[in-house]
Amino acid sequence: MIGIIGALSEEVEQLINYIDDRKEREYLGITFYTGTIEKIPVTVCKSGVGKVYAAIAATTMINAFGATEIINTGVSGSLSKEIKIGNIVIANKVVQHDMDTSPIGDPVGMISGINKVYFEADEKINGLLIDILISEGYNYYIGTIATGDQFIASEQSKQRIVADFNAISCEMEGGAIAQVCYLAKVPFAVIRTISDNADEEGAKTDFQQFLKKSAYDNCYILREYIKRK
Ligand code: ADE
Repeated sequence: MIGIIGALSEEVEQLINYIDDRKEREYLGITFYTGTIEKIPVTVCKSGVGKVYAAIAATTMINAFGATEIINTGVSGSLSKEIKIGNIVIANKVVQHDMDTSPIGDPVGMISGINKVYFEADEKINGLLIDILISEGYNYYIGTIATGDQFIASEQSKQRIVADFNAISCEMEGGAIAQVCYLAKVPFAVIRTISDNADEEGAKTDFQQFLKKSAYDNCYILREYIKRK
């Protein structure tokens, strides 16, 4: 069963509309939509914004719906001049950029207990996603995607995340989903479309302006992914 999580309704609504024999169930205020797409069992949800909602959604997808893989989709802020609004980013690994116990001697970003900074995305899921991006002619980039409970909208914040983690884009859920999947031994991937440049302009206009169009591309790619599965 493929689980797909987006934070905002724009990021998943087209996929939800595409589910056959659709049923709804609610946990902790999140509605999960189950059924099939191209005869493949899926669960799709709008988690809400941020790491806590994302972790609840991922845990529920695995424990209540039996997800055997989870893909996180939606929009993302670019951290690189090369990566433009409308381009697709795929995580080879993700990091929680706001995790910081460095004052007591840990590396920045390290999650105590499991002692990991980065979570590696599943190579098989990424391989199929990349085949689709190539055959459909999308511009895409692969690299570290950084997650935190902040909408990044300044040069200073961008530079800090790039300096600490060499990340290519920022968002607010992937790293939390990755941590749950790591603990549950469930493969995960993060595929997002760039909606803004994580600067003042991004927060003021680009994000709202490009959210719908960017989300549309992701839903199309994920439908193709399910078809080719
Ligand atoms: N998602 C899309 N753009 C973002 C940004 N600039 N910061 C965090 N999450 C985002």
